[in-house]
Amino acid sequence: MLDALTRPREDEDSVIDALSRSLAELRVETAKAQTFHWNVRGISFQSLHALFQKIYEEHFTAQDILAERIKALGGHVDGRLETTLRLGTISECDGYINAGKMVSRLALDQKILSDTFLQIATTAENANDIVTSDLAIGRAKVHDQFWWILDAHLPE
Ligand SMILES: [Fe+2]
Repeated sequence: MLDALTRPREDEDSVIDALSRSLAELRVETAKAQTFHWNVRGISFQSLHALFQKIYEEHFTAQDILAERIKALGGHVDGRLETTLRLGTISECDGYINAGKMVSRLALDQKILSDTFLQIATTAENANDIVTSDLAIGRAKVHDQFWWILDAHLPE
């Protein structure tokens, strides 16, 4: 437990809870991007197939970093899929949508994820947990970048 003696337990719990929600959202987004990678069709197939793969591979790596930060703070990672779906605000998709809708759905999700991590940065900073705050700001940057790339595909 890092800095456990200098940080009130309730502050640490609020950071762990926030990280757990973000991990759940990231796991759903990983699965959704991979579902779209498999099912995308149309003239932009090759570039979207590759972009969706880039997203789910990045998110998969990030899941591990978040989960291990939760453990470093003394928390528990409930890896069940049913818990994952309940915790986050990002919804699943069966992949029966066209390429444009796939892009706009992922763009919206990336905004949600960016907001989630900015909130975590504030929560962590208030709890004097600068390491988690730094991690969360880094995540917000990644999701802002993916949002921009996805949004640039959409008509004005
Ligand atoms: Fe593939």
